[in-house]
Amino acid sequence: MLKISVLVSGGGTNLQALINAQKSGVLSSGKTVQVISSREDAYALKRADEFGIPSAVAKNETEILSELSKVKPDVIVLAGFMHILSKNFIDTVKVPIINIHPSLIPSFCGEGFYGLKVHEAVLKSGVKVTGATVHFVNEIPDGGEIIAQKAVEILPDDTPESLQRRVMETCEWVILPRAVESVCRKIKPRIFPKALKYAGRGIITGMTPSGKRMLAYFIMGRSTSSKARIFERSGDDLIIKLTREDKNFDPSLILYSPLRVLGDNIIITNGDQTDTVYDALKSGGTFEGALRTREYEPDPPHYTPRISALMTPSGHKQSILKRAGKYFFEYEYEAGKGRLIHTYDHDVMSGGVLPSFSGEPREVIIPENLEEFADSLWAELGESYRVALYVRYYDGEGYNDKLFNTQEA
Ligand code: GAR
Repeated sequence: MLKISVLVSGGGTNLQALINAQKSGVLSSGKTVQVISSREDAYALKRADEFGIPSAVAKNETEILSELSKVKPDVIVLAGFMHILSKNFIDTVKVPIINIHPSLIPSFCGEGFYGLKVHEAVLKSGVKVTGATVHFVNEIPDGGEIIAQKAVEILPDDTPESLQRRVMETCEWVILPRAVESVCRKIKPRIFPKALKYAGRGIITGMTPSGKRMLAYFIMGRSTSSKARIFERSGDDLIIKLTREDKNFDPSLILYSPLRVLGDNIIITNGDQTDTVYDALKSGGTFEGALRTREYEPDPPHYTPRISALMTPSGHKQSILKRAGKYFFEYEYEAGKGRLIHTYDHDVMSGGVLPSFSGEPREVIIPENLEEFADSLWAELGESYRVALYVRYYDGEGYNDKLFNTQEA
């Protein structure tokens, strides 16, 4: 689910429309996690309170940016926000900003056209229809790409107030939530934080929105020997094969079964600890117990961590054995969410020591479509270092999978 920050200045009826749409399911791909008001007396703040949405008052762009940085939204919605945002602000937030404007753009818009003033100008001009527009915000006031519009007739005895009310009720509150939903659906959440160049080996375990279990295992490599590998299916398991012989090279750390199935359980790891866990589970032992007998890899200077995961019908576990200690994480399945753990935290200049993954396994959004997920993960791994990727979605009935190899068999 994407995070939405809503910026307001007044009554907040459009904010209310977003909240209602969340409740009814019209808006399901994103969730309002923050309301920022440019005025402390805005009724919108009361609405936020009532629905338990954290809110703040921010009087200028610097204050707004500092509030936004607390939640790092994926989308920003201007719902009755009465200020023009600067190019610098738009460039800094780097996420789509959506605005609702109470006229049919390109009429009655731009600087000076806001709130009731728009409807006064509409009536004065004598036009017979007006409406509302949802659009992306760029540096031109009300000038960004149009996402949705809806028109309404002007009645002979309309006042600015009655027209404003009708435009809101029949146009704004209808098209804003739908447009926000369509934008959220189009944004593909990234799997890795943007700066990550080299993650080493990685595991994702979790669940699709409809409740299928899912897993992914990937290999990135920098050295020639690490790159000379491919994944191959072996029954329901996954194995690694070398694509060239190298007599001077000990392949024990790079040849292993990354995935083994044991009844209802699947073990995924980056080394021969797959077998340690498999054997332990088979003889009544545990994931944790098995891994406590193992250590990080003996490959100075990096001492690559051993990462492992276990998927059972009731939950998933991950573990990392590194020099700093042995860590275990246990999760219940959550629809549409997965956890990502990888061996190296970030890239270092060539020749440096690769820092081990730190912190908790990262939360990842899992889409329903396997192809979509596998393709975007492969794309994010990048052409320079990716070696192989395997993704499987499964339920009680069976599974679908997708396998990528950079090298030819
Ligand atoms: C709405 O009509 C909105 O379209 C308009 O202000 C009103 C706020 O109502 N926005 C603009 O004029 C932006 N230029 P609300 O606070 O009840 O949502």
